Formats: sequence, C-alpha cells, structure tokens
Amino acid sequence: MQIVITPDYDSLSARAADEIALVLRAKPDAVLVVPTGNTPLGMFHELARRAAEGEIRFARAHLVELDEYWSIPLTDERNLYRWLDEVFISRVGFAPERVIRFNSQADDPQVELRRVAQAAERFGGIDVQVLGLGFNGHIGFNEPGSPFDAPTQLIELTPESVASNARYWGSADKVPRKGMTLGFGTLGRARQTILLVSGEDKADILARVLREPITPAVPATWLRTLPHVIIIADDAAAGKLSPLV
Ligand code: PGA
Repeated sequence: MQIVITPDYDSLSARAADEIALVLRAKPDAVLVVPTGNTPLGMFHELARRAAEGEIRFARAHLVELDEYWSIPLTDERNLYRWLDEVFISRVGFAPERVIRFNSQADDPQVELRRVAQAAERFGGIDVQVLGLGFNGHIGFNEPGSPFDAPTQLIELTPESVASNARYWGSADKVPRKGMTLGFGTLGRARQTILLVSGEDKADILARVLREPITPAVPATWLRTLPHVIIIADDAAAGKLSPLV
C-alpha cells in the first residue's frame, strides 16, 4: 500500500487524475470505477479539463457504476447515475455502450446486481477503481458488516450514512434508505485501487482504517488485504496518521 499525502484538495485531485491518465495511456480501453460524493469532484473537473484539451481520451474506456440508490428513477435528482453523468460521464466523452449503470428500478434487484458485476468481468475486469471513504468506513454502499467476499449487495443504509448523505439532499428524510453496490468480492479483483480522502473531518476514520484490525465492522480496512492500493489523502485528512506514516 502506498500512501500519498498532498498539501491540499487541488493537488489531491490532480494526483488522482494523473493516475487515471497513466492507466488510460497504457490501456485506452481500460475499465474504470469511480465514486460518488463530494471528494471526487475535483478529480472529475481535472479529468474533464484534460479531456477537453486532448490530453486524455475516454472514447474507448469502460465505466462501471460503483453504487446506486435503490428504486430512485433516472428522472429523480437523487439518482446517482444521473449525477455522475452530469459531473463526469458526459463531460469526458465516454461511449454510451461502454458505460454500465445499475437500473435502480429493475424488477428483481438480485438479477440486476448480478448483471452489473458480470458486465465488469465481460469487459475484462476492473483496471482501476477510485473509491471514497465514508465517515463510518463504508466503501460505496458496503456498510459496516458487509462481507469481504460478496460480489454485489443490496443494502440498507446505516443511520450514520443516512445522516451523512443528508448533506447532499438537504435533509435526512430525502435520503433513500437502500442502495445497490459492487461488493468487495468484485472490487477485490481490480488491478489497482485508489482511495481518495479529503478534509479534517475524515482524519479520524482514515487513522482507524489504517490502524484497527481488518474487520467488516470498519469496511475500508478491507483495502489492506489488496495488493495494489494507493491512498491519496490531503494534509487535513492525514492529520491523525503520524507517527504511522
Ligand atoms: P464524500 O462521501 O466524498 O461526500 O465525503 C464519501 C462517502 O460517504 O462515501
């Protein structure tokens, strides 16, 4: 595991974009996974800028959605694919047939979960996944207690995540209570993993992820079981790491 500490959020975003650019240069049809949330916004912005300037191309790349609320249609502003399309997908020029999203309103969620996990495999497996870190250690919608071997999950959000996601929608009663996500069984086969952590309010959980025993109770401790992980944290998020790193 490599831990990169950047002076601020902008340099974190640029460093994350550098990693994606490296992968795409070596493999233009790479399979990518990216997170939702506030943390990746700077990286998306930087990737869009580089794509507009012709430095990188996404036309042959694949994207598999990491997570999605259950039962929230595309017309709803809370649909995560809709959000991701606005902030990233449509801005960098992915070919629509190379983007796989969860159908939040599928008849059978289990069939839908399998379909998305299998699509990642059909494209050749995930080359690089960028992940965010929840205050309770969740990754995607893999909440505390999520097994490390599940390929995908339909999960009930914990009260902590509902409270945290109220940041995005104004109040907790607007936060959907269930989510679909790629599980650690699928994410664990990715060739490279990048965790982005920004801000002082993530310093405690980042220190716990690196220090506590590896356990589904703190889902992101799972990262320590993987061979190729880069944690990119800004100075504020890394504030409680010393003397560890
Ligand atoms: P954030 O969300 O990037 O908005 O902090 C991360 C998460 O809760 O997974």
